[in-house]
Amino acid sequence: MDIGVPREIKPQEGRVALLPAQVETLVAAGHVVRVESGAGALSGATDLEYADTGARVAANASEVFADSELIVKVKEILPSEYGFLRSEHILFTNIHSALNRELTDKMLEAGLVGISAEDTHASGSPNCPLAGEVGAFEGIRLCLAPHGGSGRHFIPHYGSTPLKALVIGLGGVGRGALRTLLRLGVSVVGFDVNKGARFHTELEWAGSDFITEDIAALPSHLPEADLVINCVLWPKDREDHLVDRTMLGNMKPTAVIADISCDTAGAIETTRPTSWSDPVYTESGIRHFCVDNIPGAVPIAASAGYARAILPFVGLIAEVGPIEACRRELWLARGLTCAGGELILAETGRFQDRPFTPVADFLARAA
Ligand SMILES: NC(=O)c1ccc[n+]([C@@H]2O[C@H](COP(=O)([O-])OP(=O)(O)OC[C@H]3O[C@@H](n4cnc5c(N)ncnc54)[C@H](O)[C@@H]3O)[C@@H](O)[C@H]2O)c1
Repeated sequence: MDIGVPREIKPQEGRVALLPAQVETLVAAGHVVRVESGAGALSGATDLEYADTGARVAANASEVFADSELIVKVKEILPSEYGFLRSEHILFTNIHSALNRELTDKMLEAGLVGISAEDTHASGSPNCPLAGEVGAFEGIRLCLAPHGGSGRHFIPHYGSTPLKALVIGLGGVGRGALRTLLRLGVSVVGFDVNKGARFHTELEWAGSDFITEDIAALPSHLPEADLVINCVLWPKDREDHLVDRTMLGNMKPTAVIADISCDTAGAIETTRPTSWSDPVYTESGIRHFCVDNIPGAVPIAASAGYARAILPFVGLIAEVGPIEACRRELWLARGLTCAGGELILAETGRFQDRPFTPVADFLARAA
């Protein structure tokens, strides 16, 4: 199969979907891989290294999209890429279609097969821990006095009180945030609806300045917090919030919210996604950091994890085609978003209130 790897064009996004090691495997399996020139530059992979694996280095994105059937990316398709989409394409990337009606329309109009990489990770996205680790790091930086923070140190020197952080949601992202915070000496209270998640993180960090609380106790901790880190996977159809606008009035004016989940009006009512080029805004007197591609700031590690995780899926799709690949691999079927102009991803159908074909029905009758 002809496989294409375009350069990511989201602002400050340095990741690449496949590194030379994965390209080498695909070329050895008989596939043709085209990589856009410069695609791996920020992830530590040069055009020459790709060429050495047998990849063809394409001059621009238009060439990659025109000559490839399977398009493998990291981030969603952006408006400047819409014109490249064709019915022959199989698009494998983090599509996040539920919140993106325009892109959903474009994919349906093109009639391509779209598979959302974010739904295919059996043990969590390899970039989620990085989002937590880097998001917490950036949150700590925003707690420094010159940035408007409380000025509390993250190391409790000379008997002073260290930074106090709240981490909401102790899944892959939340546990990443804990790694940064607790290794540095920050005092942390963790919250999760899942008692098992609370138990395991407490066990893991026994001896650290860390406790967990029931989520109902969150409002009572807000006034003390220097840093609130949200890592909850918020259902797209939920209309309430864990931290609403009125609660911000109870927080210290120096406090910062690092909303790594960054769902618009999600668990944090005042959240809207930002980018690395303009990462922070102030709402109701509280600074919000809500970058929606945090791992893009550590592309060397992030690309290594992502490329390794998706290689088996890319290889399978290239070998047997997308429909048979989804029949053979349950996790891939979970990400099947659209095909031939039909919407398949249930979450997107429900959230956008449009008809969809359940994946099992689609796979049962697809040729
Ligand atoms: N900004 C970025 O660059 C970036 C990168 C990766 C992931 N994310 C986002 O981070 C979020 C978390 O991802 P994850 O992989 O850790 O998810 P996850 O499902 O592994 O963990 C979420 C945790 O939140 C808990 N939770 C759910 N509802 C809750 C509630 N009401 N109160 C308290 N806890 C609750 C769950 O029990 C779970 O432990 C997702 O929204 C994901 O899209 C953002």
